[in-house]
Amino acid sequence: MRIARTTAEIRRQLKPLRSRQTIAFVPTMGCLHAGHMSLIEKAGKLADIVVVSIYVNPLQFAAGEDLDAYPRTFDKDATLCRNAGVDFLFHPATLYPKNGPTITLKATQLSDCLCGASRPGHFDGVITVVNILFNMIQPDFAIFGEKDWQQLAIIRRMVEDLQMPVEIVGSDIIREADGLAMSSRNRYLSDADRKQALALYQALRAMQQSALAGEKHVKTLKSVAQNILDAADIRPEYLDIRCAHSLTTKRMLNEQPARAFIAARVGKARLIDNMPLAFNTTPEPASCTEDSR
Ligand code: PAF
Repeated sequence: MRIARTTAEIRRQLKPLRSRQTIAFVPTMGCLHAGHMSLIEKAGKLADIVVVSIYVNPLQFAAGEDLDAYPRTFDKDATLCRNAGVDFLFHPATLYPKNGPTITLKATQLSDCLCGASRPGHFDGVITVVNILFNMIQPDFAIFGEKDWQQLAIIRRMVEDLQMPVEIVGSDIIREADGLAMSSRNRYLSDADRKQALALYQALRAMQQSALAGEKHVKTLKSVAQNILDAADIRPEYLDIRCAHSLTTKRMLNEQPARAFIAARVGKARLIDNMPLAFNTTPEPASCTEDSR
């Protein structure tokens, strides 16, 4: 595995390979866990060369968020990458000019709800850095985890709107044995927080099972989840069911794929998770609607 620390270096390393081999890219902020490793494994199946980047992007953290505290574990991450067969590891000191970027990207849709509502500017920071990384790596495929579903939806839209020559591939959420979604931020959880955090998964599962059993009313599904969160003393930042792709709100489940989303602060960690909700046609006919928003 080769490690590059500057743009010039990674460009130089990849240039001779580009015409003969395909490249799959996994952008990360490091502190790699089994979730990231599953992205890397998927990348290895898709292309000849796997490139991973590790860069804690300051542009996607608002003032007061955990930019400084964000775990940085480069040596361990590099070993994991090497053992997983990664070909190139890109670990730049910075990706921006000294006084910050003059030009950034802005997501005008999809970013004003869910995480975007409580983290204004976050997704603009994400798409700006992903765009920079795509320009450097010029991958054929880029793999993103579905835990950050909104991020994945926005990146898909960026690639579509800006006609970028890269295929975006989503990858399943990887969970601990009890169901908690893997996240670099789980390491902020105390033992007590860890137990409490499980309620996010349980609330999503309960909605999923109710939907499978035929419940279509979003209000009812959300109250099932709310009861579980209440019992665990968790006040969610959001608990929502939306159209999986447009992220518009829904009143009833229908044929359009729907997804349930939760974000909550547990101890020092802000955790997010999501799950698909099936539309069960058997118990009653659909009289579905989707809100205009
Ligand atoms: O999902 C992440 O880890 C980050 O948002 C990403 C895509 C690496 C951009 O900094």
